[in-house]
Order: sequence, then C-alpha cells, then structure tokens
Amino acid sequence: MEVIRIPKVMQGSARALLSRGKTVGLVPTMGALHGGHLRLLRACREENDAAVASIFVNPAQFSAGEDLGRYPSDLEGDLEKLEAAGVDTAFVPAVEAMYPEGFSTRVEVGGLGEKLCGAFRPGHFGGVATVVTKLLNIVSPTRAYFGAKDYQQSVIIRRLVEDLDIPTEVVVLPTVREEDGLAMSSRNRYLGPEERRAALALYRSLLLAGAKIKEGARNPDQVRAAMLEALSGEPLITEVQYAGAYDPDTLDPLEEIEGGALLAVAAKLGEVRLIDNIVVEA
Ligand code: PAJ
Repeated sequence: MEVIRIPKVMQGSARALLSRGKTVGLVPTMGALHGGHLRLLRACREENDAAVASIFVNPAQFSAGEDLGRYPSDLEGDLEKLEAAGVDTAFVPAVEAMYPEGFSTRVEVGGLGEKLCGAFRPGHFGGVATVVTKLLNIVSPTRAYFGAKDYQQSVIIRRLVEDLDIPTEVVVLPTVREEDGLAMSSRNRYLGPEERRAALALYRSLLLAGAKIKEGARNPDQVRAAMLEALSGEPLITEVQYAGAYDPDTLDPLEEIEGGALLAVAAKLGEVRLIDNIVVEA
C-alpha cells in the first residue's frame, strides 16, 4: 500500500490510473477506523480497480468547544487496517497541506446544513462539504463511499455532487452496528462501560419508534414521545438534542407519517455526543 501525504501527488497518482481507463474508489475517513469504515472499504475494494482511503481529521468541521483536540487517532493501527482491507493508496494529508496559508474558499450547503445536527453544530456541514469537495477534486474518484450512520451528511454530499456537477457516483451503505445494536462510531471510544450500556438507548428509541409506526402510529408527536420516553429512562443521557420522525429527503420534521420516515436522534452522554438513525416505511 502506498501512503501519500501531498495533495498534488495524490492527484497525479489518481489521474494516471484514470487515464489508463481504471476505475478509482474513494473512502473518506477521519481515522480511528472501525467496522463501519471497513464495510465501506470492502465495497470500495470490490467495485473498483483501485481503492483509495483518506484519513484526515478535518478542523473545518469542528466548532469551538468540540472534540477536535482529542479526536481519537491511531495512524499506525489505521494503516494496518487499510492494508488488510486491500486498499492501494492511503491519502493522509497534513492540515497545512489541505488548508495552506491564504486558503479562503468555503462550500456553503444552504438549508440542508442547518437542520438536525446542523442546528447544534453551526458551520459543521460547510466544513464537511468543503473538505469532501477538495477530496473529490484531488482523487476524482469514479465512486465515493459514505455511511448511512451520518444520514444528513450523506444527503448533503449527494446534493453537493449533483449541484456542483462532480462526476463521481456517491454510494451510501447501511449503518454497521455492534452485536447489541450500538451504531459503530469512532466516538464510542470515549464511552466508559456504564455510558457504553446507556448509549444503547439511542438505538432502542429508534426501534421503539419504528415498531409504533409498523403498528399504525401516524402522528409524529406520538412517535417522538415514545422516543423521548425511551431516552429519558437513562440518567446518563444528559441531553437529547433532537429525536423524531423526519422527511428522508428534506430532513424537515414530518407532519404526518406516510411513506418513508427517517427516525433520527442525537443525544449527549456528558461530553460525548452520539447520533443514530433508521429509515422505516409506514
Ligand atoms: P468518519 O466519521 O471517520 O466516517 C467516515 C465514513 O464512515 C462516513 O461516510 C461515515 O458515515 C461512515 N461511517 C461511520 N460510522 C459508520 C457505521 N457505523 N456504519 C457505516 N458507516 C459508518 O464522516 C466523516 O468521517 C467525515 O465527516 C468525512 C466524510 C471523512 C469528512 O471529513
């Protein structure tokens, strides 16, 4: 596996492959790799001639007071995992290589970036959109892989690729969970054993809401109340930022549940912020 740190070198390497008619897959990550990332890497490996993975903890998507400074990092372990997953090229740029002095352009995502997580993380999705646009321009991948765990992010990236005519196919794959249902996340490493157990309430609240809808519940307030009740049973959950049923395309709260519903939740366990979602059909 080749490890490339310089954007222009990465760009040259990817262009050489593409000009020889090869397909290139890209999995963007912030490292601290887990089974969710590995699922994306496997698809990327299977579906493309060349597989590229990036590891870059993107400062532009963290707000002041968030966990940028302590975001989990294990570069050596990550590179071993990428190699074992059959990745051809790991792109691991330094912050100064991605945002050199004088950098001033930012990709604005509009209203989609202000809903759900965006309401609690101002500027977050602009930072994601900016770095993803850069990565797509550096690698020019045939396909880029993202997880449904970050549902809003995947909607915004699809929108961005369409709006800016980026010639990459966006592939979104289902959330990978631990055996007990907890959605895999780099931030789960922050959880102590008690918090780890309490964190299960997020997925439980989604399953409960999904079951209510299957039983015929069509009132979003009722579904939301069931979710909040499941979450409030866990004293270690110190804040519920949002919970409820949303339009899977616009991310607006549903007024009535019919067709597809995005059930989504964001909650904090002390300093640790976790999100989860499922999509159900009414
Ligand atoms: P990161 O949190 O490292 O996630 C990288 C990719 O893995 C994202 O597409 C995310 O949705 C996916 N992923 C994370 N947990 C998953 C799970 N349990 N199941 C399936 N997929 C999962 O998301 C980011 O990094 C960044 O915002 C990034 C897109 C790299 C831009 O900086």
